[in-house]
Amino acid sequence: MIVSWMTTNQCNLKCVHCYQDAEEATERELSTDEAKKMIDEIARTGFKIMIFSGGEPLLRPDIYELVAHAASRGLRPVFGSNGTLITDEVACRLKDAGACAMGISVDSLDATKHDKFRGLPNAHALTLAGIEACKRAGLPFQLHTTVVDWNRDEVCAITDFAEQIGAQAHYIFFLIPVGRGEYIQETSLEVLENEALLREIMEKSAEVSIDVKPTCAPQFTRVAKQLGIDTRFTRGCLAGLTYCVVGSEGIVRPCAYMTEEAGDVREQPFDEIWKTSPVFERLRTQAYSGACGTCDYKDGCGGCRARAAYYHDGDILAQDDYCAHGQKLNDTEENENEEDRPLRCCGGVGVGAGRMRPAGRRGLGGRCAPAGAAGPRGSRSGSNGARPCHLHRRYGQRGHRGQPPARRGLHGQFRERLGTGRGHARGRLRRCANGGRLDHPKPGCGHGGGLHGGESRGHHGA
Ligand SMILES: C[S@@+](CC[C@H](N)C(=O)[O-])C[C@H]1O[C@@H](n2cnc3c(N)ncnc32)[C@H](O)[C@@H]1O
Ligand code: SF4
Ligand code: SF4
Repeated sequence: MIVSWMTTNQCNLKCVHCYQDAEEATERELSTDEAKKMIDEIARTGFKIMIFSGGEPLLRPDIYELVAHAASRGLRPVFGSNGTLITDEVACRLKDAGACAMGISVDSLDATKHDKFRGLPNAHALTLAGIEACKRAGLPFQLHTTVVDWNRDEVCAITDFAEQIGAQAHYIFFLIPVGRGEYIQETSLEVLENEALLREIMEKSAEVSIDVKPTCAPQFTRVAKQLGIDTRFTRGCLAGLTYCVVGSEGIVRPCAYMTEEAGDVREQPFDEIWKTSPVFERLRTQAYSGACGTCDYKDGCGGCRARAAYYHDGDILAQDDYCAHGQKLNDTEENENEEDRPLRCCGGVGVGAGRMRPAGRRGLGGRCAPAGAAGPRGSRSGSNGARPCHLHRRYGQRGHRGQPPARRGLHGQFRERLGTGRGHARGRLRRCANGGRLDHPKPGCGHGGGLHGGESRGHHGA
C-alpha cells in the first residue's frame, strides 16, 4: 500500500500546471512531531511505501529527520521532487537518511520548453544536475512527465532518455485541470488522443527495460490487455483501495484530485481513518455504475474515480467518461462489432454542418478526422449520406472530451455548482477570516468555492 504526503505547499518553481498551486507554505502544515506521529500510524496500518511529495519536499527543513523516521518504522521513503535542489550533499544526506528512490520531473527533452512549463529559466539544467547528483550518491531515481498537447509526441522519447540515463522507471502523468492546471486545461488530451497515446506508451513499455506507467489514466490496464502486453501494474485507479494522500495540513483523501475528505490526522489516528472512513468503504465496494460497472476490464482499471465524481455530480462510483472503450459501451444504438470499430471521429460527417466548428479547431470537430473521412462501419444515413460517429452521437456539440466545454476544468465545475468565483487553494482558503471550507463555503463568505488545489495531489509516483 502506498501513501503520498504533501509535505508542504512551498515550492521554488512556478509550474503552469501545478495542481497544488504551490508557492508558499501554508500556516497549518503539520509540525515535525505531528508528522512523526502520523508516520507511526501509517506504518502500523500496514503501508509499505511513503511518498514525500509537495510542493517541493526538499524545502522542508526537517525532511531528513522525517525520512529517517519513516525508514526506522519500516516504510520505504521515496520522493516526488522537481529535482532542482538536489546537490551532491542533498543526495548523500537523503540516502543516508534512508530514502529509497527519487521521482524527478522532466516534462521535455527541450530545455526551453521544460523551463517555460516549470516557470524557471534554468530549471531543466538544474534538474539534470540533480539527477547526476543522485547517480553519484547511488540514489535510485525515476522520471515523471506530465503530458499535455505540446509534449505528447515526446513522451516515448523521454522514456528512451530515462532508460539511457539509468532511471528505474518513467511515470507519465496525465494533466488534471486542478490548481493552476485549470488555466491550461485546453492543453489536456482529448479522449481519443489519450487512447492513442496510451497505446503508444504500452507498446513502448514492452520495448524498454525500465518500468513505464501512465498515472491518472487507469485505462492503461485495459489497453495493455487489449494489446496483449504484460505490465506489472495490474490495477489502474488505486484510490482508497491501496492508496491515499495526506495533505500538508493533515487532511486524508482517497487521491489528491478527489474532494471527499476521509479524515484529519490531527483529529483521528491515520489507521482509524484508513479502516473506517465511509468514503474509503464506498470505494472498496467497487460497485461502479454506467460503463465502468459493466466493463469487462473493470477489475483492472476501475476508471478514474475523481473524474467520475466531477462529471457525475459527486458520484464517486459513476462511470469515468474519459474512456474510449466506455464510450463505445455506452453506444447502445450500435453495439455489433464493437471491438472492430475504429476509434476515430467521423469528423462531423452527418452531425450537421451548422453545428460544427471547422475541422482543425479544438472541441467539436477539432482534432478529429477531416470531414469526409470514413466514419464507423455500418453508418446510417445522415444529412450527407453518413452518420455521426459514436462520439459525436454521444456527446454532440460537447466534443470528445466527454464533458461540455462549460464544465471543463474541475474548479470550473465547482464554480458552476457553487455559483462562486474562481476556486483557490486550500492553504489560502484556510486563511479566510470566515474559516469557510472548500466545498462548503460559509454563507456570506466572499472567498468562493474551489477544489483542493492548495494541498491536493500526489499520486502513486508523485
Ligand atoms: C505536484 S508534483 C510534487 C513534486 C514536485 N514538486 C514535482 O514537481 O515533481 C508531483 C508531480 O505531479 C505533476 N503535476 C503537477 N500538477 C499536475 C496536474 N495538474 N496534472 C497532472 N500532474 C501534475 C508534477 O509535474 C509532478 O511530476
Ligand atoms: S509541479 Fe511541483 S515543482 Fe512545479 S510548482 Fe508544483 S510543486 Fe512546484
Ligand atoms: S486521479 Fe485519483 S481517482 Fe483518478 S485514477 Fe488517479 S488515483 Fe484514481
